[in-house]
Amino acid sequence: MDSFATLIKNRRSTRKFTDRLLSPEQVEMILKAALMAPASKRKNPWQFIVVEDKEMLKKLAGCKAAGSSFLEGCALAVVVIANVMESDVWVEDASIASIYMQLQAEDLGLGSCWCQIRNRQTEDDTDANTYVRDLLDIPYQLEVLSIIGFGYKDQERKPFDEAHLQWEKIHLGTFKMPEENKEA
Ligand SMILES: Cc1cc2nc3c(=O)[nH]c(=O)nc-3n(C[C@H](O)[C@H](O)[C@H](O)COP(=O)(O)O)c2cc1C
Repeated sequence: MDSFATLIKNRRSTRKFTDRLLSPEQVEMILKAALMAPASKRKNPWQFIVVEDKEMLKKLAGCKAAGSSFLEGCALAVVVIANVMESDVWVEDASIASIYMQLQAEDLGLGSCWCQIRNRQTEDDTDANTYVRDLLDIPYQLEVLSIIGFGYKDQERKPFDEAHLQWEKIHLGTFKMPEENKEA
């Protein structure tokens, strides 16, 4: 198994997948990662809807004007929802669970991509959250944060090039403007 540092370097968003289905064990591993994600005060405001049905994946792919079409070709989509009444930091909790699943998928050699739903609209300007909620019968107190699509990779993505990391975003000790930061 690769080191965690290698996994982080190699993980890139995958939007093209082969037709191969995931095994029940792989799906379970991905869901277990979500359920083990850190959550503020261990309130676990999130819930996860597992979608493998091709017709439903196609419908989900229409949830936004742009950036959601890849969902049609994935083997599995996990819709990440959270009860906004259960935690004031549900966005953070649901985001962490989302990325945990993506990292677990990478560790399994699978590809994944985040589809943003919160604060996004469909082509006809409907709230994407409402669109997904109606499709999947999600109760009103639960908001949709993201849909993470998974599958076997059908595209090569280059790992991060460490020569191009934005070190200027790192400030040592106190905030420094980019020029000052260079001198550090
Ligand atoms: C909060 C968030 C929202 C994103 N929304 C989308 C999306 O709606 N559609 C999409 O194709 N990719 C989406 N992505 C993936 C980003 O486009 C991707 O992470 C970014 O371009 C960097 O590429 P990389 O993941 O390959 O390093 C999202 C990622 C994050 C973290």
